[in-house]
Amino acid sequence: MIDERIDREHSCILAIETSCDETSVAVVRDGYEVLSSVIASQIETHKAFGGVVPEVASRKHVESITMIIEQAVEEAGIEMKDISAVAVTQGPGLVGALLVGVMAAKSLAFALGKPLIGTHHIAGHIYANRFVGDIQYPSMALVVSGGHTELVLMKEEGSFELIGRTRDDAVGEAYDKVARALGFPYPGGPHVDRMALEAPESIELPRVWLEPDSYDFSFSGLKSAVLNVVNQSKMRGEDVRIEAIARGFQESVVEVLVEKAVRAVKEYGAKQLLLCGGVAANRGLRSALTERCRAEGIQLMIPPFQYCTDNGAMIAAAAHLKWKQGSFTPLDMKADPQLPLEDWATF
Ligand code: KG4
Ligand code: ZN
Repeated sequence: MIDERIDREHSCILAIETSCDETSVAVVRDGYEVLSSVIASQIETHKAFGGVVPEVASRKHVESITMIIEQAVEEAGIEMKDISAVAVTQGPGLVGALLVGVMAAKSLAFALGKPLIGTHHIAGHIYANRFVGDIQYPSMALVVSGGHTELVLMKEEGSFELIGRTRDDAVGEAYDKVARALGFPYPGGPHVDRMALEAPESIELPRVWLEPDSYDFSFSGLKSAVLNVVNQSKMRGEDVRIEAIARGFQESVVEVLVEKAVRAVKEYGAKQLLLCGGVAANRGLRSALTERCRAEGIQLMIPPFQYCTDNGAMIAAAAHLKWKQGSFTPLDMKADPQLPLEDWATF
């Protein structure tokens, strides 16, 4: 659906994100100025189960979505009529959780008579870097989240080409599973990060490079190696060296991510490297990538911590690309748990 009558540069987008366990709504002006960002995390609820329970997530989204929308509008200091479009994560994600956001967005867009913009969750993570500065093309994104580990080449604004992806576990998933084996609650990524940085020593663990020219990743072997070390210590009646294991695991993950990302930037002549996704909050990864990019003369962008994990503001930033094109989503749009990034492209 193309609308030719809009002001392409200026927008005030209200965006809803409910793809997993955060109910989040934000109001963002012109794709980069965050007027409000409300994030209601369900972590405390899911902790008791050791991971996200999809049915519980959907119910929690239903309970809070209306309130969060109202709060985001109020904190932005605007009125509903000032909103130029309603954006929502269409996929990928948990289908029941996505549906709650999609229904809320459709109802709001319909009631206000404003366009709807179905948005890709990973495009959102990538464009969270708009809160840091302008993106220059070609750009390379290293997407590291709970469900995704990808290298994405963007030849121009809104075009996405997957040049590498994980063949098994996503990096955040590996962090959470390792954290669980080490006795940390869900989500364990931040605990492993903290332990790794405090550890005085490290256990050597394998690096999985795959074929020499591959940009794909694999983390399940590394995760199994960690579980082996933990089980062997327990069987021998020894203390599990939690800190050293956390550090060894993080060193392996970070080395592989940094090497492949830097190689991809060079091979494709990217002007920038954009780090994004929940694991972009990892301090070990942020500092190793910062140091390496400085040494290599690569311009690195990393979103502020609050825009690394799931949030509505990043969805508004990506939706602004569609706004600029006047490309809107029909109200009969369906949530798509497997939505491919390349298909969402604006070019
Ligand atoms: O992007 P995100 O909020 O949700 C998905 O789209 O998946 O990412 C959540 C993931 C979880 O696996 C969490 O453990 C991980 O990001 N994470 C971290 C850190 N902070 C969050 N992993 C490692 N170190 C961190 N500091
Ligand atoms: Zn995410």
